[in-house]
Amino acid sequence: VKRLRLDRLLANLGYGTRRSVQNLFNSGFVTLDGVEVEDSSDHVVLSPDLPSRLLVEGEPLDPLPGLTILLHKPTGYTCSHKEEEGDLVYDLLPERWSLRDPPLSTIGRLDKETSGLLLITDDGDLLHKIISPKQRINKYYLAKLARPLAGNEAKIFSAGTLMLENEKKPLLPASLEVIDATTARICLQEGRYHQVRRMFAAVGNHVLTLHRERIGALSLPKELAPGEYRALTEAELALVFSER
Ligand code: URA
Repeated sequence: VKRLRLDRLLANLGYGTRRSVQNLFNSGFVTLDGVEVEDSSDHVVLSPDLPSRLLVEGEPLDPLPGLTILLHKPTGYTCSHKEEEGDLVYDLLPERWSLRDPPLSTIGRLDKETSGLLLITDDGDLLHKIISPKQRINKYYLAKLARPLAGNEAKIFSAGTLMLENEKKPLLPASLEVIDATTARICLQEGRYHQVRRMFAAVGNHVLTLHRERIGALSLPKELAPGEYRALTEAELALVFSER
């Protein structure tokens, strides 16, 4: 079982520096099972029920490390930690979460103008397991196109020979499902820079809008509006890996 000093735990969750969280304890703002915690060097066990038992200023503690969330990414937000890149997906989360250690990172990236299912985690192993092309996790995108499909796209994309400009390795086979003349669903197992947009550019088309619908068997939950997020459940995490 993992144990941690309380001051370190709060600092790691972004409540302040180890020094500044001391003030929360001194002011009696930290309670465990209803009792004020006087000594910030006390250790606690990082059990799943800890956030409901450990209150900071009367509020349940933030989710413990090992956090993975599911976000409905709106268009106009960048998957980056760099402030100069405009609105960041991390701006959609509680401010304190950007101070967490281990830090939260997006599992792969969606372009600024792409919407849909985005997972964000502080678990580096999980991140790697989902984005590595070796793991062959399917990622499904709905693309709306500027021009009607020509009819040969599915064959070209599934060949495993398509080369994108300035790249040395051909793309892995990808599948395409025609929805209507200018709408297609694409399934990829890798995630190269602007991949879907560049694939359609390679066949003389142009992607107008792009939306990620699904990762593995995990679909973007219908009740999540753009910009909304919630913690991923264990069952949902299992769905990510269930198609292999
Ligand atoms: N392909 C793209 O072109 N953009 C994305 O955001 C994801 C896949």
